[in-house]
Amino acid sequence: MKSHLNVEKIREDFPQLKTQVNDKPLVYLDNAATTLKPQVVIDAMTKHLSFDVSNVHRGIHTLSEMGTRQFEETRIAVQKLINARHDFEVIYTKGTTDSLNLLANSFGDKYLSAGDEILLSEMEHHSNIVPWQMIAEKKGAKIIVLPIDDNGEISLEDFKKFLSNKTKIISIVHTSNTLGTTNPVKEMTKLAHAAGAKICIDAAQSIAHMKVDVQDLDCDFMVFSAHKMYGPNGLGFLYGKEELLNEMPPYQGGGSMISEVRFEKTTYHNLPNKFEAGTPAIAEVIAFKAAIDYVQKIGLDNIALYEHELLEYATSEIKKISGVRLIGTAKNKAGVLAFVIEGVHPQDLGTILDKQGVAIRTGHHCCQPLHRRYGVTATARASFSFYNTAHDVDVFIAAIKKAKEFLL
Ligand code: ALA
Repeated sequence: MKSHLNVEKIREDFPQLKTQVNDKPLVYLDNAATTLKPQVVIDAMTKHLSFDVSNVHRGIHTLSEMGTRQFEETRIAVQKLINARHDFEVIYTKGTTDSLNLLANSFGDKYLSAGDEILLSEMEHHSNIVPWQMIAEKKGAKIIVLPIDDNGEISLEDFKKFLSNKTKIISIVHTSNTLGTTNPVKEMTKLAHAAGAKICIDAAQSIAHMKVDVQDLDCDFMVFSAHKMYGPNGLGFLYGKEELLNEMPPYQGGGSMISEVRFEKTTYHNLPNKFEAGTPAIAEVIAFKAAIDYVQKIGLDNIALYEHELLEYATSEIKKISGVRLIGTAKNKAGVLAFVIEGVHPQDLGTILDKQGVAIRTGHHCCQPLHRRYGVTATARASFSFYNTAHDVDVFIAAIKKAKEFLL
């Protein structure tokens, strides 16, 4: 490895890496599903739940004021993480799926009419398909699907051809959770804007693995989750440009999102509260700041470089195993390795790897249309984090060989 991460020291920060699974040291290669949590995040959650519990935005008592301040500090940390112009352009949600449901409903309500087109790609996660299908059905809009090539890439030439004056929004994954492909979202954004369309980037799989800058990309919306970035579950984010979020109607009604409620008519709060009805995930929000600080201390450029090296090593090793077919061979790939082995069901492979302490994901990874595109119903998938090592890759490869011996 040429990169300079002190991985052994980093591993000390993650208590779960010391656990055994099926009497074997855990080799955790399911980071695209969720990441493990560093001690600083666990401590921040524990501290809040032990001593600091209060509701935010409501009380004037000391704990509520402190909680509110910490709650808003995380928003500023997220703003800085993605380089948003304003902190109020960051909306707290329950996760990427919730963010996409919010966006599809609210954007769709305001901007979609019969005959309009929503452009998605063949590599989208179900969470970036189904909410758009639901709003398209309500509005009489059409879903258009961008094809990918056999490597799992989208050509910008194709992309241009699919844009028209009917295209209202493109919702596209930044890094595919199955293929690992990182799409050229900056160029896509330029082309989308030239066609008069808006663009949403699903950064669920990129946010913890590379630098993401919404002003540089100039994207209109971005969505991602905390739990895939070493933070707690049940928390996600919708970034949107101020002028668009201001024009869009609220998604859910309730407490906190109102300015004044009368039975005749209710008026709504300003951003971001307009989109944050009800009591939020307070402990999770506050603890997520510890995750952001932790990741930024390591440095997203260092992380990207290291994980890329791990991916290259794993790819070269797995290619030596006969009968392996990689699903996703794009030039620009992040640390995700999906594959099938001739004659071996991914589920059986996953079970045998688990017996050896190796956690991978098997199945369709919430990407059924993508799997259909490759003529398979399921794949096995290893996905990497900065706490994985070349030794983890070696254990994974040895476990696959053992599984093959057993199953074939
Ligand atoms: N979307 C997550 C994954 O790819 C759950 O595993």
